[in-house]
Amino acid sequence: MLLLHPAVVHFPVAFLVLNFVLTLAYLRYADLFLERAAYGSLVIGWWGSFVAVLTGTLLLAYSWPFQDNVVLWLNLHAVLGIALLLIYGQALLRRRRAPQLLDGTDRNAYLRLLALGLVTLLVDGWIGGHLVYGLGFR
Ligand code: HEM
Repeated sequence: MLLLHPAVVHFPVAFLVLNFVLTLAYLRYADLFLERAAYGSLVIGWWGSFVAVLTGTLLLAYSWPFQDNVVLWLNLHAVLGIALLLIYGQALLRRRRAPQLLDGTDRNAYLRLLALGLVTLLVDGWIGGHLVYGLGFR
């Protein structure tokens, strides 16, 4: 049970970063395959984040009580994890409703949303690592 969270977190990190790279590649090369692959990565990345939030919450429940120095970081990590679901959930809905989104007028708003998601993802992943390797949380 305790090993589940560290095992699954690689999936959202990898697929959501891939989503961003493939989206930029589509803007550069206008190859529809790249856009479809970016969408596929977004779907897998969202479900990966969902499983990460689920296993992270179970891990918290099993690790109770915590040292004082990790509580703030843990809360921040959990809040950003939930924010990830909301941000990428929005992106998923927008892309599902408008498959040609990247060629239309809403493109920049969608790209801003993906950029916000990427920053949130990287900060959240960093905090997860800081909890384990910086603060010794296990
Ligand atoms: C409610 C949401 C979440 C909670 C409560 C939570 C909780 C935790 C806890 C307690 C740890 C430290 C203990 C350990 O890994 O053994 C941790 C580590 C970590 N978390 Fe989360 N997490 C959540 C969501 C996420 C999400 C969405 C991601 C990434 C997309 C993520 C990425 C990480 C990473 C990279 C680590 C370091 C793992 C390691 O190397 O051992 N977490 N998380």
